Amino acid sequence: METIIHSVDFEDYDNAVNLAVKYLKNSELVAIPSETVYGLGANAYDDAAVNKIFEVKNRPNHNPLIIHIHKNQLKYVVSIPEEQQKLVNDIIEAFCPGPLTLILPKTEQISDLVSAGLDTVAVRIPAHPVLRKIIKQLGAPVAAPSANKFQSISPTSAQAVFEELGGDIPLIIDDGACNNGVESTIISFDFSGAKPIINMLRPGPVSIKELQAFAPVRKTFLKAAKEEQKVQAPGQFKVHYSPKTPLRLIHKFEDFQPEEGKRYGLLSYKGDDKKSYTELHDWKSIEVLSPSRGKLSEASVRLYFLLRKLDAAGLDEIIAEPVSETDIGVAIMDRLRKASINY
Ligand code: TXA
Ligand code: MG
Repeated sequence: METIIHSVDFEDYDNAVNLAVKYLKNSELVAIPSETVYGLGANAYDDAAVNKIFEVKNRPNHNPLIIHIHKNQLKYVVSIPEEQQKLVNDIIEAFCPGPLTLILPKTEQISDLVSAGLDTVAVRIPAHPVLRKIIKQLGAPVAAPSANKFQSISPTSAQAVFEELGGDIPLIIDDGACNNGVESTIISFDFSGAKPIINMLRPGPVSIKELQAFAPVRKTFLKAAKEEQKVQAPGQFKVHYSPKTPLRLIHKFEDFQPEEGKRYGLLSYKGDDKKSYTELHDWKSIEVLSPSRGKLSEASVRLYFLLRKLDAAGLDEIIAEPVSETDIGVAIMDRLRKASINY
């Protein structure tokens, strides 16, 4: 199949939006830009189209999808018990539109294919202006996982989508690099106790600290990374987000014992400063997450781009240096652990 890459015109989104909506209405898949990573979109009310997502990604169909909606579509897709509404609404008010996905009880509008038979659905209200227009004009939620093959690295540019899915999908809407560069924060709610608790299933751009202002946050993602498959967010399989080249996260440089003749590349945090790993080995290539010396938001934007670059550099192994585990650094470390062969 021929894959068209259509660039968004910054002065006028309409061409891109019209084209995307035409394909979506025709039960076709469209790779769409978002503020987190590129998504592989289908009309969420069209099972034939949603089925294609699983086929194209080689994704097992017990792994549910995120639906992308406008705030005013919320009532059609989820049904929130009265006593839970205040907390959920406060959180939506604070972070949406944006890079936050909420797991909520679904309505009958959402098919079992989308939710993988669960009685909940993952909902995100994106902030990306082109994606928002697409959803509005389609008049239906857009189901979209990240636009990569199952267990591969999420794409943060149209070029990366093309590398993953070129020839398998008809249309990619190109709106440049994604602002956040890592997938949305995913939360669910535990209302079983005296006080509600937020379960963080996947760390992302909305941080633990920001959510703690609303309720205590349980770091469910830590356990999920260990308990392979037996998890609430089935996407949290151990090997996920990984490059094809083996990657190893090394906390102390002394733990790095290079083997003779092996070609090692370094994913450095800040690059050339005293404590960095850059000078301690004759690396075949070095990529720096934050050339501005430890800006985590810069590191997150560059993470998947640099992992793709290192993956294409003909290395035997990628050594990753840890980043500060605060704010979006929690998400970066989560993705590095999941990509790493020693976790
Ligand atoms: O930023 C993002 O979230 C991107 C963009 C495109 O929106 N999407 C994304 O989708 O990362 P995906 O499919 O790669 O990851 C969605 C995760 C999966 O791990 C899935 O298992 C989990 O959400 N999930 C979906 N529905 C769920 C549910 N009802 N309960 C628990 N986890 C769910
Ligand atoms: Mg994904």
